[in-house]
Amino acid sequence: MNLKDYIKIVPDWPKPGIQFKDITPLMDNGDAFRYATDQIVTYAKEKQADLIVGPEARGFIVGCPVAYSLGVGFAPVRKEGKLPRETIKVEYGLEYGKDVLTIHKDAVKPGQRVLITDDLLATGGTIEATIKLVEQLGGIVVGIAFLIELNYLNGRDKLDDYDILTIIPYD
Ligand code: PRP
Repeated sequence: MNLKDYIKIVPDWPKPGIQFKDITPLMDNGDAFRYATDQIVTYAKEKQADLIVGPEARGFIVGCPVAYSLGVGFAPVRKEGKLPRETIKVEYGLEYGKDVLTIHKDAVKPGQRVLITDDLLATGGTIEATIKLVEQLGGIVVGIAFLIELNYLNGRDKLDDYDILTIIPYD
């Protein structure tokens, strides 16, 4: 199965110059969604992950079926003001902006083996911030899984110390 067939490229969205990669057709197709998810599940098992952490919003979509399949938990990383209990926070730069990410203080237990999931690696700012949150809570990042990687933005350079799985690369 060629998963690129299920990614729609939307020119100049959400800003001029951004070629947005829309994963909704992939999610909308049961076979494609399962095919992609199964690859991340295999990876998560290899890494012996015992918690999945994903940033909003599409990191939830990628990570939750993996957590379900493994029978482990999922902890959401959210933008500031969205989580109801005590949080820690980190500022980060985006491909097109700046923001703050937060996680509940008790979401990760010290020593937990965490797999981070997201739909897309662009500049790497989102995942760099997510790693910081997990590590501040004592979690061990055993791997990072993306549906899509934009190779030309070199986000991987920020993640040198970590193992990465990308399912659909774009050069
Ligand atoms: C997008 C995407 C990744 C991130 C990648 O999310 O889903 O999480 O940007 O960019 P980066 O590697 O340059 O950090 P966005 O911030 O648009 O949030 P959303 O999923 O809530 O729309």
